Amino acid sequence: DFTEPALKTVFAEDFKIGAAVNPLTIQSQEHLLAYHFNSITAENEMKFESLHPLEDTYNFRAADQLVAFAREHHMAMRGHTLIWHNQTTDWLFEDKGGGPVSKEILLARVKSHIQTVVGRYKEEIYAWDVVNEVIADEGEELLRQSKWLDIVGPDFIAKAFEFAHEADPKALLFYNDYNESHPLKRDKIYKLVKSLLEQGVPIHGVGLQAHWNLYDPSLDDIRTAIEKYASLGLQLQLTELDVSMFRFDDKRMDLKAVPAELLELQADRYEAMFALLREYRDVISSVTFWGAADDYTWLDDFPVRGRKNWPFLFDEGHKPKPAFHRIITSATKS
Ligand code: G3I
Repeated sequence: DFTEPALKTVFAEDFKIGAAVNPLTIQSQEHLLAYHFNSITAENEMKFESLHPLEDTYNFRAADQLVAFAREHHMAMRGHTLIWHNQTTDWLFEDKGGGPVSKEILLARVKSHIQTVVGRYKEEIYAWDVVNEVIADEGEELLRQSKWLDIVGPDFIAKAFEFAHEADPKALLFYNDYNESHPLKRDKIYKLVKSLLEQGVPIHGVGLQAHWNLYDPSLDDIRTAIEKYASLGLQLQLTELDVSMFRFDDKRMDLKAVPAELLELQADRYEAMFALLREYRDVISSVTFWGAADDYTWLDDFPVRGRKNWPFLFDEGHKPKPAFHRIITSATKS
């Protein structure tokens, strides 16, 4: 019984509207998802450790369930993620004795993983986050320390895109990262992607995770990041949007219920953000939230376990919040 306009209809000429889902939320949020969203991403179920816990064991059950949900509801599906330093099993990097594997073996293993996974969902997944979060947050180093970097060297990035492209030449391949609008990291992401393009690596887009909050990043920084990435000639997608009620370094503030002033601030913030995103509708092809409604968000466990947060457009009962009404009014006016 939804009476409000559907997000996917209001923004149909702008970008896809997506949500991260998992096997629980496709049940508890099914009606909300089906009414408002036309794209989904698996929150955890397509990560390496979920799909490929042991060398000879793949576990596709949960991922297949999400793919079936997308198909049933005529939604697009993004794949997340093939290469990451997190949620990746140890066996991948180890030989039988527990020592590090050679570069050749690691590349052969990752090629086989990518062929299997991307190949399986060829008809269903139109875009993949091929490489996730490899840029170092601080300092001068371009790349974050990881087993990928230790064993293969910086080439693991280009190789992953090549393997994914071979497995599904039609899929759109993305580099995806967070703090993507902060100047230091923005410039490093730009540098990495530019060098991949110069090497002829098949990469088609930059994913801006967009884990933002009421105060940061500034609209100017968001705009500059969008323009800089777009200048590479690639398409952009917001892949994990949420607007936390707390500043990033505010690790303790705890609120039992959400104050009306914060809901208004959040409405201001979403309104300004969506107005900005719509200016760039020619380069931004999708806006995915990292969840759908405030009854379930990873932010309830981060950075403080159990601290409630309210980052989305819909409340815990799946009713539209002030932020929802604000972006709809503003989009239908212009
Ligand atoms: O699988 C275990 C389960 O067996 C156990 O009972 C339960 C108890 O806490 O934990 C489960 O694992 C959790 C897993 O999510 C599945 O729910 C992990 O503890 C938890 O750390 C993990 O968090 C995920 C996080 O990635 C891991 O880094 C979040 O759900 C997921 O939203 C988050 O998503 C990432 C994106 O992939 C990349 N960008 C950042 C984003 C937010 O961190």
